[in-house]
Amino acid sequence: MKFFADTADVAEIADLAATGLLDGVTTNPSLIAKSGRNFLEVVKEICGIVDGPVSAEVVATDHATMMKEAAVLRALAPNICVKLPLTIDGLKTCKALTAEGVKTNVTLCFSANQALLAAKAGATYISPFVGRLDDIGHDGMELIQDIRTIYDNYDFKTEILVASVRSPVHVLAAARIGADVATMPPSVIRQLAGHALTEKGLAAFLADWAKTGQSIL
Ligand code: G3P
Repeated sequence: MKFFADTADVAEIADLAATGLLDGVTTNPSLIAKSGRNFLEVVKEICGIVDGPVSAEVVATDHATMMKEAAVLRALAPNICVKLPLTIDGLKTCKALTAEGVKTNVTLCFSANQALLAAKAGATYISPFVGRLDDIGHDGMELIQDIRTIYDNYDFKTEILVASVRSPVHVLAAARIGADVATMPPSVIRQLAGHALTEKGLAAFLADWAKTGQSIL
């Protein structure tokens, strides 16, 4: 399972990339606004930090303008993945970019039928938003299971990129289902490594080690 960081915070990305555990980055217009930085500049910088795909989202809503925006984004770096909304124009743009060999991430997916359309359009990634579904009383993970079943039924190559991840519980559930990628806020990636018994056990080991009066170095 691949881990992407869902952020436009360059310092956080650099820190996580240094662990070797980061496979890519996803951004969206809200995350860019939160960064307070110029969109094209910050995305280009992120592309230089991680080897994997960096999703950068178009903001046009019509196919022709989406194609023009995609051309600008593609020129930033070879690891750009063009992020497109799950609308008819977004799907049309996805199909056209896929034909040109461009990586695409179709976002704002909230139903299995939408995910089916994205796969038919040749999307590299489909981004179902589990947290936002949970927020309105639906079961986000049920959607991931449905998409997994449908994609496997037809051997679609589109990768399931679980988005709107809010906690390690989402990550575990997505991994059990066999989702290809989870994109998470950096705080959730760090939470995955934590366990109270790990901290307690380490503290005990270090206390006992100190009693020996020895040192390794
Ligand atoms: O990048 C898309 C998605 O991960 C956003 O998550 O927390 O704003 O629902 P959230």
